[in-house]
Amino acid sequence: MTSNLSPIDTAKFVAAKRAVEFVEDGMRVGLGTGSTAAWMVRCLGERVREEGLKVSGVPTSTRTAELARQVGIKVISLDDARWLDITIDGADEFDGDLNLIKGGGGALLQEKIVATASDLMIVITDPSKKVDTLGRFPLPVEVIPFGWQTTKALVEETLASLDVLGQQASLRMNGEAPFVTDEGNHIIDLHLQRIGNARQMSMVLNQIPGVVENGLFIDICDKVVIGHQDGRVEVE
Ligand code: 5RP
Repeated sequence: MTSNLSPIDTAKFVAAKRAVEFVEDGMRVGLGTGSTAAWMVRCLGERVREEGLKVSGVPTSTRTAELARQVGIKVISLDDARWLDITIDGADEFDGDLNLIKGGGGALLQEKIVATASDLMIVITDPSKKVDTLGRFPLPVEVIPFGWQTTKALVEETLASLDVLGQQASLRMNGEAPFVTDEGNHIIDLHLQRIGNARQMSMVLNQIPGVVENGLFIDICDKVVIGHQDGRVEVE
């Protein structure tokens, strides 16, 4: 599984491998989305096949569900699981308080529901995602398609009253068409540079009609496992 990995894939792989050591027999496991989370699904699949580990996985996207089935992980819905023992997922940014920006892959809604329903939420990452203040990565905001331009205008108006540096908002595209999430929604990416008060920003955004959820994960992550390109792993 790991021969000839690029340095960046080595970092993702070693973080994923270390994180799946937290999974124990019988656990219900939230399975994140993205390239780092995909390594975690493969590593967990390896434990299922080679150690006979028995787990049920709740995927956070259709692509993760597909990969989980391919590698032999039993897939169940969150409604079947109700509550999860652990979730392991990637992130686009994390700060010193383990607050996150997620949703670069467009799966933030299911990711936030699943992570919130977990006793333990572990982020796997490489060191490049660590920031002093969140906001360098564009903040994804999931909106329903109905009236999305009005919702975007309301979001922009709201930004003007908040402690941020940039205020540009753009509809995420998939080629010529708007990007569509697993729930059939669109994503507006906010280019803010620096989010002074992430908790306030998250609450204010979610009060705007048409906004379904935003990519700020505040007080949700418990642990960050950082993989380095030389194979070292740190746990924060
Ligand atoms: C998807 C996510 C991903 O976890 C995040 O974008 C990180 O992805 P990657 O591991 O590919 O860098 O939030 O919605």
